[in-house]
Amino acid sequence: MRVLIVGAGGQLGSDLVRAFADLGPIGLDHKALDIEVPSSVSRTLARYRPTVVINTAAFHNVEVCETRPDRAFAVNALAADDLAAQCALAGAQLVHISTDYVFDGQSPVAYGEGSPTNPLSAYGTSKLAGELLIKRHLDDYFIIRTSGLYGIRGSSVKGYTFIERILTQASEGRPLDVVNDITFSPSYTRHVADAIRRIVERRVFGTYHVTNTGRSSCKRASPPSCARPLPSGFRRWRGDRNSRLCGTARWTPSGSQPCRHGAKAFVTIYVSAKLRLPG
Ligand SMILES: NC(=O)c1ccc[n+]([C@@H]2O[C@H](COP(=O)([O-])OP(=O)(O)OC[C@H]3O[C@@H](n4cnc5c(N)ncnc54)[C@H](OP(=O)(O)O)[C@@H]3O)[C@@H](O)[C@H]2O)c1
Repeated sequence: MRVLIVGAGGQLGSDLVRAFADLGPIGLDHKALDIEVPSSVSRTLARYRPTVVINTAAFHNVEVCETRPDRAFAVNALAADDLAAQCALAGAQLVHISTDYVFDGQSPVAYGEGSPTNPLSAYGTSKLAGELLIKRHLDDYFIIRTSGLYGIRGSSVKGYTFIERILTQASEGRPLDVVNDITFSPSYTRHVADAIRRIVERRVFGTYHVTNTGRSSCKRASPPSCARPLPSGFRRWRGDRNSRLCGTARWTPSGSQPCRHGAKAFVTIYVSAKLRLPG
């Protein structure tokens, strides 16, 4: 398997490079490959001849997507469409990362891969468009929907992770400022990357939900004085309270880990790095 990872400078991309390290993956950051430039994509595929391309690149600042839907669709839909077309021509499988924002958040139970989609935001709509466009070129695709990612690299959109923000607020003695009325499955990028490797190796193509298992909400963790409800604009884009994804029989999550294990593993590495201990 020759693996090429697009968006390798990002939080999930960098952990995918790690998860496939023994195979010598080609990890390309945004500077090395811009998927909005078709000629650059074709040159890259011709040069490296990957058998598996993993696309983590996205325009995923949910608020900015509302004001710049053109950018959201350019990267999340049109560039994904071109990448899939070029993978089909090159005979490469495509692993494309998608999101829980393709759902409306109204469901009382977690969403399975077959649940009806109904995105409410420009971001979610552009990601769903990307999923649909990919399918018209390839049978050999994996669409991996995940949720609430955090990783050691940190999000390029926010510049920090959620857990990092909580640790900083706590260490500075500041009151916690958290949204307390959504339930989701925050997922550690190392665990998600490891699960993606296992899915790719099984070669059963299709759509998968990959998150840390279980659910999480700040409701219990935060005293009411420190927490705030989801801002109304955000609620409009995300839907109501439940953006939880669950796997179905398609993906038996053997070895997939609960949310709290993800958080614990992250904090251990994060604190080690801060103390300059070996990770
Ligand atoms: N973050 C979440 O909570 C979350 C939740 C569910 C799903 N997802 C999905 O998971 C994937 C990875 O998310 P992440 O949190 O790892 O994001 P990330 O840290 O922002 O990584 C994405 C990477 O893609 C690069 N990129 C952006 N536009 C590109 C382009 N046109 N061509 C090539 N590279 C480009 C970015 O580079 P620059 O920063 O230099 O532009 C960045 O390094 C995305 O598809 C996202 O939609 C994320």
